[in-house]
Amino acid sequence: MPSISKKGLDMPASPIRKLVPYAEQAYKDGKTVYHLNIGQPDIKTPEVALDAVKVHSLDILAYTRSEGSEGYRKKIAAYYEKNDIHVNHDDIIVTTGGSEALMFAFGSIMDPDDEIIIPEPFYANYNGFSKASDIKVVPVISKIEDNFALPAIEEFEKLITPKTKAILICNPGNPTGYLYSKEEIQKLAQIVIKHDLFLIADEVYREFVYDGNSFYSIMQEDSIKDHAIMIDSVSKRYSMCGARIGYLVSRNKTFIQTALKFAQARLSPPTLAQIASEAALNTPQSYFDDVNEEYVHRRNTLISELEKIEGVKVAKPKGAFYCIAELPVENADDFAQWLLEKFDVDGETVMVAPAAGFYSTPGVGLNQIRIAYVLNESSLIKAVNILKEALKVYNS
Ligand SMILES: Cc1ncc(COP(=O)(O)O)c(C=O)c1O
Repeated sequence: MPSISKKGLDMPASPIRKLVPYAEQAYKDGKTVYHLNIGQPDIKTPEVALDAVKVHSLDILAYTRSEGSEGYRKKIAAYYEKNDIHVNHDDIIVTTGGSEALMFAFGSIMDPDDEIIIPEPFYANYNGFSKASDIKVVPVISKIEDNFALPAIEEFEKLITPKTKAILICNPGNPTGYLYSKEEIQKLAQIVIKHDLFLIADEVYREFVYDGNSFYSIMQEDSIKDHAIMIDSVSKRYSMCGARIGYLVSRNKTFIQTALKFAQARLSPPTLAQIASEAALNTPQSYFDDVNEEYVHRRNTLISELEKIEGVKVAKPKGAFYCIAELPVENADDFAQWLLEKFDVDGETVMVAPAAGFYSTPGVGLNQIRIAYVLNESSLIKAVNILKEALKVYNS
């Protein structure tokens, strides 16, 4: 048989999806599974977006420009303007999800064996995208004890080598829910200027910020105009994960021209989904206010329920809809599988994401899980109760 590439063999499987066969078996066994493992919100997509594709006037479902339709990019620029980010539509490339924006960014700025520094735990697919681009992830550890705050500047500087090309942050963070302060962004700006690096910020959760905190984008830092690359997406903002629309944003013209060549190679982002996403920009502010209120409510419920369980440590998220919880177990991978295979309370169990896959340092996060609070309040309470009962049995 022809052989598979080494890159293909080394490509990490999604830590979230690898438990799926066990969940499927649990359904076959008649169990109800509460999904605390995925980032698919249960929030309704805004009607304006859905209506736009129900009644469109297209005769041919054609390609759009590789960088996305001009009308849509102009509206995106206007959305950013309202958020105090001053970019032109030419600074934006529409991509097939934030995922493709990340791939284009990596491909445009890094060669094989180049290094990217990422505070960990981080969005697990950064590992996969890095492997696909033959680049090396250099993690800098942020700790649950510090609520996952940005590690000290010296920690970053220790890791910078001649191969370092970029620092990547996720703000607000998946999986930590951490929100970087303006001061932290400014510290990062100083490092990237000093060492002439790119700063990539994955800001796909920018609308989900709680407790009156305000969000500060790397694009608001004029001093890093040529260093800053922003990743964005409609997936979570409008609960439109299936649209597959994201954007790459930068005021560095050379970078955008380079990324555009990657965009040209794949021809066009999806046309109908751009129509839906353009309409989504008309979503009233009340939608976001309601959604945020719902997430704050769920977060508060989740955290207070988790804190009642002996031996569980949790950092309170300030944004996004995830948190990392440390459990009184040695191996959360084994525990997560056991929950699906061997445990239930009255025919119900939970699926969680073991957090080790959100780290690239081997052996770190083994006793942690990531929980997504994408379930309604009563399901969350039931799910955490199942976790509590499960820990008692698992540890006995
Ligand atoms: C932090 C982060 N970045 C990027 C993505 C990619 O999202 P999409 O490709 O759906 O835009 C996700 C999806 O969960 C995410 O959590």
